Amino acid sequence: MNTKKYYITTPLYYLNDKPHIGHAYTTIAADILARHLRSKDIPVHFQTGTDEHGSNIEKIAKEKGVDPKAWCDELSADFRQLWKMLNIKYDYFIRTTDASHEAAVQAVFEKLIKSGDIYLGSYDGLYCRSCEAFYDEGELKEKNCPIHGRPVEQVSEETYFFKLSKYEPALLKHYEEHPDFLSPRYRAQEMINFAKSGLKDFSVSRTKVSWGVPVRSNPKHTVYVWIDALLNYATGAGYNPENVSPDFRTLWPADVQLVGKEIFRFHGVIWPAMLMALGVELPRKVYAHGWWTINGDKMSKSRGNFIRAEDVVKDYGVDALRFFLFREVTFGQDGDFSLEAFKRRYNADLANDLGNLFSRVMNMAAKYLDHRLPVKPESSETFRELSSWTPAIHHSMEALQFSEALEKIWQGVGTLNRLVDTKKPWEMAKTSPEALKPFLHEMIWCLRLIAGWIDPFMPDTASRMHLQLGVGRTDDGTEPQKVPPLFPRKQDEKPK
Ligand code: ME8
Ligand code: MG
Repeated sequence: MNTKKYYITTPLYYLNDKPHIGHAYTTIAADILARHLRSKDIPVHFQTGTDEHGSNIEKIAKEKGVDPKAWCDELSADFRQLWKMLNIKYDYFIRTTDASHEAAVQAVFEKLIKSGDIYLGSYDGLYCRSCEAFYDEGELKEKNCPIHGRPVEQVSEETYFFKLSKYEPALLKHYEEHPDFLSPRYRAQEMINFAKSGLKDFSVSRTKVSWGVPVRSNPKHTVYVWIDALLNYATGAGYNPENVSPDFRTLWPADVQLVGKEIFRFHGVIWPAMLMALGVELPRKVYAHGWWTINGDKMSKSRGNFIRAEDVVKDYGVDALRFFLFREVTFGQDGDFSLEAFKRRYNADLANDLGNLFSRVMNMAAKYLDHRLPVKPESSETFRELSSWTPAIHHSMEALQFSEALEKIWQGVGTLNRLVDTKKPWEMAKTSPEALKPFLHEMIWCLRLIAGWIDPFMPDTASRMHLQLGVGRTDDGTEPQKVPPLFPRKQDEKPK
């Protein structure tokens, strides 16, 4: 099989702590896109994983008195467990401690030493352990790391450099010729300006970090964790310059690489330059989304201000979280996470708008429809109208404009609610019973449509709806039943 698969990636999350809602956000986004494409019979490959090397993890493991690998095994499993709980269907989970990945990283390093794109030198600089990155004096915020707000360290060491400067013209040309490469557009200019400001060669090995991939020809150096981690996107797809797997041809180039905006430079500038040096095609799109904040500050493991997905799921369920994150904020922009806003939206959009509509219609169907849900679509105005929205909804999803898609879907939910309110089917039962049946049939067809639309966002809810709506039962139809609420309303907390 040589069909190119649509290849979607998330960042590899650092194993400095357990995952929070920020990590869930990117991974769910990838899952929504993957589910949507699969539903259109487009072959998809969705890769996520964990970033396990580096001084930061070495230091944490030491503090805890455990072997770094043991620490990583445990924490990486926590990520996989959370993805399972959140109903994430990835195709491949890569760990940077996987032997095949490590071997490929070593091979890449040797190839680039040979080509002269990596050369030996020495480095003096200001280093943030949490970012695993060097900063210029001018980039610091009150002498601290601009991202973590923590002190940086003065570091001096023999190091290999990557000739980033050499790729500046080629990068700028690529940005110009591929306007979708750096997405969304409003974040691209910052990267272009950065590339134009004069790219400097940068340090890609460490002699002080032992928890990393050793440079094969000079093993007192380990490969800088960011180089190691970025390469996952290619190595996980079968790339090793000394032995390229046939899979690589069906997966590469990556179609969309989702990242948070704080790592856009690594993905929009350094990563494509590395690929150019390797003579490998560039990904089609790197998409940098915004941050979930709490009271305006970035949710962050290293800052310790975050909300865990598990805690929200415990109270509201997986689908409510999957819905909220993509309905509340435009994918791309920042958004402040608050449990009050969550509850408000849960009650309004899920419990009221969708949940009530569904149970009202199903309960009436159980009461008034002769034990059978409709099997063949009947031509009806509302169903035809709503069906015509499908291409626009799909288009929004493929453009990663998830909130736009959800807004449109809820416009449909609103239309149906208004129809129920104006037609008053419970009165029709008495006044015009012959009109009631087609009306309920129409509503059922429209709800089937809605269930299909929400499927990538809320797969469990969609399955429940499909089951109760008798979707997929073509022979003798399904007996309508009274249904428990999809989203039980949350009451206000009683004052203590
Ligand atoms: O940066 N809001 O790993 P990381 C939205 N290992 N998204 C957030 C977020 C927030 N508050 N917090 C985290 C690393 N994320 C490197 C990446 S890739 C080769 C190596 C998401 O554990 C978002 O996708 O710090 C962000 O880019 C990523 O988690 C950072 O995860
Ligand atoms: Mg981070």
